[in-house]
Amino acid sequence: MSSRFPIADRLLQRLQQRRDQHRYRQRSLVEGAQGPQLRVDGRLLHNFCSNDYLGLAGCPALAQALASSAGSLGSGASHLVCGHSEAHHELEATLATLTGRPRALLFSTGFMANMGVIQALVGRGDTVVQDKLNHASLLDGALLSRANLKRYRHNDVAHAEQLLQGASGARLLVTDGVFSMDGDLAPMMELAQLAQAQQAWLMVDDAHGFGCLGPQGRGSVAALNLGQEDVPVYMATLGKAVGSFGAFVAGSETLIESLIQFARPYIYTTAMPPALAAATREALECVVQADAERASLQRLISLFRTECERESLPLMPSHTAIQPVPVGADADALALSDFLRERGFWVTAIRPPTVAEGTARLRITLTAAHDEATVRALVTALAEGMHAQGLAGGGVR
Ligand SMILES: Cc1ncc(COP(=O)(O)O)c(C=O)c1O
Repeated sequence: MSSRFPIADRLLQRLQQRRDQHRYRQRSLVEGAQGPQLRVDGRLLHNFCSNDYLGLAGCPALAQALASSAGSLGSGASHLVCGHSEAHHELEATLATLTGRPRALLFSTGFMANMGVIQALVGRGDTVVQDKLNHASLLDGALLSRANLKRYRHNDVAHAEQLLQGASGARLLVTDGVFSMDGDLAPMMELAQLAQAQQAWLMVDDAHGFGCLGPQGRGSVAALNLGQEDVPVYMATLGKAVGSFGAFVAGSETLIESLIQFARPYIYTTAMPPALAAATREALECVVQADAERASLQRLISLFRTECERESLPLMPSHTAIQPVPVGADADALALSDFLRERGFWVTAIRPPTVAEGTARLRITLTAAHDEATVRALVTALAEGMHAQGLAGGGVR
């Protein structure tokens, strides 16, 4: 039945198409604090799908820090009006020190940071060269900037070089540090060399590396001892390993001043609540001191991979906390996720358009708050589910 409004008709059609394709997304209701176990839609489940890699999101001391630093609920306005508080400023100073850069700038979310940075740095006539598997916000930022967008095959530095060589205007080379749906690392050394040779700026989105990798969790760029010269634009989020919310960009005085002047998602939005900024600074203190948690996370990653190999389950070449299990068809990924949920494990099925056609997968994420017995139990349930569905030994490697 069609309505008087073409938009409404089109939306109904699109929603139905999503259902028919097994790609309809649904939210589950979580009760209580984040942690390795969650009460979801009334049932207690082992949580293997959060980005809370160090187990800080539900930390009672940090929740207490948030409550006790709340001078006022809101920041009142954007940073450039009257919303830039001492708490924001101190957090930026801490982030600059941690990343070894002259300055850092806070954004309300990582999505906004990526949109803002690319749009502020390049425009019509310039070129953005990106990895095909970069996060959606990096892609959208490039589209918003109106620069020419070129995408190279995943982690293929030679292809990136070809695209840069023929590129017009100012050139920005952009990569995720740790790829969010695959868990593998960018070939950062080679990309940094390429950027230098081609007089391009390299931007790294380290949403999944900051807090987990490198000395004191300073991220994937610090892990390789690369500095400001190699990676002039370093971006990371605060809602993953840091356990809080928001994001930042770190770099030179010129970069940060340019973002303040020209990054529209920075300029035209309300600053994050100051209490959140204050509590995030305490969370960063926990991140710096979390060597034991990082080591335990690494042990769980190895255990997970060894157990999967023992069960002959397909794995992807990731050695980070993101351990995707390739499945292939959307319906199979959904059925496997449902199977695990029945057995008490919450793992989301990732389907197109988030990943390429035919590469649906379970995105298993490990955190320092998990324990060995639960990881082993997860692999046992996974093997059972994959065998029951005829998936073990298949999939994309
Ligand atoms: C690689 C990457 N960049 C950026 C973002 C966006 O960050 P935020 O959640 O803070 O908007 C995400 C995920 O959320 C991500 O995985």
